[in-house]
Amino acid sequence: MSIHKVTVSLDSRSYSVCIGSGLTRSTANGGEGDSLLLPRLRGRKGVIVTNQTIAPLYLDRVREWFLEAGYETHPVVLPDGEEHKNYETVQWLYRELFQAGLQRNGFICALGGGVIGDLAGFAAATYMRGIDLLQLPTTILAQVDAAIGGKNGINLAFGKNLVGTTYQPRVVISDVDFIATLPEKELFCGFGEVVKYGLLAGDDFISFLEMNRNEIRERKVQSLAIMIHSCSRIKADYVERDELDLLGVRASLNLGHTVGHALEKLGDFRDLAHGEAVAIGLVCCLTLSVAMELLSENARQRALKLLHSYNLPMVLPAEIEVERIIEEMRRDKKAAAGHLPMVLLRGLGDPYLEENIEAGLLAEVLEQCKKPQLDN
Ligand SMILES: NC(=O)c1ccc[n+]([C@@H]2O[C@H](COP(=O)([O-])OP(=O)(O)OC[C@H]3O[C@@H](n4cnc5c(N)ncnc54)[C@H](O)[C@@H]3O)[C@@H](O)[C@H]2O)c1
Repeated sequence: MSIHKVTVSLDSRSYSVCIGSGLTRSTANGGEGDSLLLPRLRGRKGVIVTNQTIAPLYLDRVREWFLEAGYETHPVVLPDGEEHKNYETVQWLYRELFQAGLQRNGFICALGGGVIGDLAGFAAATYMRGIDLLQLPTTILAQVDAAIGGKNGINLAFGKNLVGTTYQPRVVISDVDFIATLPEKELFCGFGEVVKYGLLAGDDFISFLEMNRNEIRERKVQSLAIMIHSCSRIKADYVERDELDLLGVRASLNLGHTVGHALEKLGDFRDLAHGEAVAIGLVCCLTLSVAMELLSENARQRALKLLHSYNLPMVLPAEIEVERIIEEMRRDKKAAAGHLPMVLLRGLGDPYLEENIEAGLLAEVLEQCKKPQLDN
């Protein structure tokens, strides 16, 4: 299978995102073993940060692949779970890096989903004032989103992702073979982000997602690779135009997320998974865009059908009070004091940031989204 490549062009911080099957399998084990995918690193020694779920599945194979490329690696296996994405884990990680003898010319490889990517990314950005970072994402969400763009973060007791940096990796290697073992729920959560990219990019990618939904849901590697390649290209484009999220361009990537974050928070991060909350958030954005006469009802129905075909939840839970959602949205770390910002669509493929939504209209739309919105 061929390797798909996207370049994230950021002057001296530019890097490749490589997508394909067998990319991290050594030739001895029948893989592509393409160590040429690795950029020129400062040293030959690194630490692979992963977790207890992923280590038994992929750690040996990835270490062998590094060895074949001439790199010595030391594994650090963290406990699995968002609850470990905190400063205690980072401190423990710093000690492990030090004890492994990692110097300024060493590297960190993040082998895992977004949690591992965020922790390892933060550690790489700060250990010895920054060492080389390689991202080997293993979930759909991490391959299409978290591993690209350099953002990392850890949670504090009073909020998610409140501490972090923007620190670009040297390379992202998205081996689609990793997706074979992903739990079903995580697969569908990833699709929430993928549909978001469809709505950001417009007709061509939406048509691809419509036509290939069975192959993608069945995890056919060819279709997954094309899908991840398209998402990576879209994300890279936003990152290139607004690396530090200062111009309001990268903000479009938050489509569906302002409502989604509020729903996650109100459910104590237990009731709805991130991708599910984003999917419901997308329904709210689409519905508000129609209510504001920015988007046609036909376009909304097409997008809703796409969400439905990827098995995503689409109805706002009736027990969540609309006023509480709006309150949470005002508290979002990206909201200016008291404002209600939201990314809306002026058409499929045409997002923009509305700085301050009218609260009354938003409340009406959120109430509406407690009922199914998809026509039969
Ligand atoms: N930095 C960014 O730009 C960015 C963007 C989006 C999300 N995030 C962060 O990403 C995190 C969510 O990431 P996620 O959805 O990948 O969740 P995750 O990292 O928690 O992974 C989900 C689960 O799947 C398991 N898993 C991962 N890969 C597997 C595989 N190939 N086979 C079997 N099991 C596997 C993990 O061990 C975990 O239990 C959140 O903390 C979020 O804040 C960061």
